[in-house]
Amino acid sequence: MPPIQHGEEILILDFGAQYAHLISRRVREAGVYAELVPYNISAAEIKRRKPAGLILSGGPRSVYDKDAFLPDPAIYNLGIPILGICYGLQLITHQLGGKVARGAKHEYGRAPLRIDDKSDLFKRLPDHITCWMSHADAAESLPSGFKPIAHTENSPAAAIGSKALSIYGVQFHPEVAHTEHGSEIIENFLFQVCSCRGGWSMKTFIETSVSEIRDKVGDEHVLCGLSGGVDSSTVALLLHQAIGDKLTCVFIDHGLMRKGEGEQIVKTFREHFKIQLINVDASERFLRRLDGVEDPEKKRKIIGEEFVNVFTEEGLKIGDFQWLAQGTLYPDVIESSRAGSPAAKIKTHHNVGGLPEKMNFKLLEPLRDLYKDEVRRVAKLLGLPDEIVTRHPFPGPGLAVRIIGAVTPEKLRVCRDASWIVEEELKKSGIYDKVWQAFAVTGDDHATGVLGDERNYGHLVTVRVVESVDAMTADWTRLPYPVIEEISNRITNEVPGVTWVTYAVSSKPPATIEPQ
Ligand code: XMP
Repeated sequence: MPPIQHGEEILILDFGAQYAHLISRRVREAGVYAELVPYNISAAEIKRRKPAGLILSGGPRSVYDKDAFLPDPAIYNLGIPILGICYGLQLITHQLGGKVARGAKHEYGRAPLRIDDKSDLFKRLPDHITCWMSHADAAESLPSGFKPIAHTENSPAAAIGSKALSIYGVQFHPEVAHTEHGSEIIENFLFQVCSCRGGWSMKTFIETSVSEIRDKVGDEHVLCGLSGGVDSSTVALLLHQAIGDKLTCVFIDHGLMRKGEGEQIVKTFREHFKIQLINVDASERFLRRLDGVEDPEKKRKIIGEEFVNVFTEEGLKIGDFQWLAQGTLYPDVIESSRAGSPAAKIKTHHNVGGLPEKMNFKLLEPLRDLYKDEVRRVAKLLGLPDEIVTRHPFPGPGLAVRIIGAVTPEKLRVCRDASWIVEEELKKSGIYDKVWQAFAVTGDDHATGVLGDERNYGHLVTVRVVESVDAMTADWTRLPYPVIEEISNRITNEVPGVTWVTYAVSSKPPATIEPQ
């Protein structure tokens, strides 16, 4: 699918900074569409795209490194406003004829910034703000036409600018929350320097993508795999709004869903939204193939394969489809092209991985320009019930990765019912929405309990609750003892056969979020 036209846009040249995604999020929050592009994009390509402005991100290298990431020097002659952040400021200095001092004075963390010029980038800001620094190199002499517009104790040129060229640089990070008035600095760049109009929002995203999907699909038909997660649900609603009955959704219940999830999906999409939904109960098939399989990777592989088999069979049964819709998100798309990244493979959603080749589909990925929180906002605007919008992420292979060893109906029952209690208790105590995931794990370990006067050798259940921003790292949640106590009491009382409950206190790394 060709990219959706979002109107005015800011291109962020990505030099591999850990904060690059944050910059684009801040720009989007200000109402202007932003996209990360590889740092070595040609000036000709930039000219063709006609962005309202360019932002040069930070990066881990020094401009003097043998293998420094350098942008096409012609970008400075395009007449397009530029803001360089950290390494971006050093690039501007270096490439336009100034001098960068290597490892001059390291500055990390919070630093008081004194603003010297409030005419554009710092318009309406106070004289002093606290900014977030993270650099070793700094501008020593500035290119001609540039002057310092803010300083710190250690950096006389903590921000620089040339009004004539509309090129600015900041040594600190306005995109991080630790920089006071950081969003206003970015807004000043957008609206004072680049003269952006703003107004990009999830509402405009929906309007544009609905009309683009309509044009694209025409009279053809689209198949959408619905997992019940927020991404595939949003894709389904967006497509339904665009093409109505030319959309058919397929929900495959592999028997490894959370409690009540299958029923909820059918009720929401078929009954509430009146979307054509094929509901395939394939649980027996999946459980038969998983019978006796203990190895975690084998379990995942079987589930992935079986998914493709069932989906293909159903797809062929229900007719002539030209398009397959997927809920690919922006971070999945962009990671493969990031500077310095080991060519990370684009994550294929396991549910539909391999399908396009087998079935000769064209791919529709209407969310490929969005971040997760933006998808949630789209979902809300399209009327997806809160329960689905805010439900924690759930792995494609479902409860199979939360059951250690072979998947059996007994372990499934324990895992599913105990997880339900964990979720319920966290909702009751107002913690559910503050954590990333919360669930129960079970395996083959048993532990002794007493029930009345009887010894009882029952299941051991581990409760896992983690906080995370992107699932790359995660910290275990310090739940209040009364909440842990209530979860434990309820699981041992309400889930027959469980005698012990433990709480997982390993963060990621070294552990992963899911046990398998
Ligand atoms: P780990 O366990 O690797 O998980 O720390 C990171 C995040 O990814 C989710 N996860 C999956 N999602 N298919 C998915 O769609 C999978 O096979 C899968 N495995 C893990 C996990 O729930 C967590 O949010």
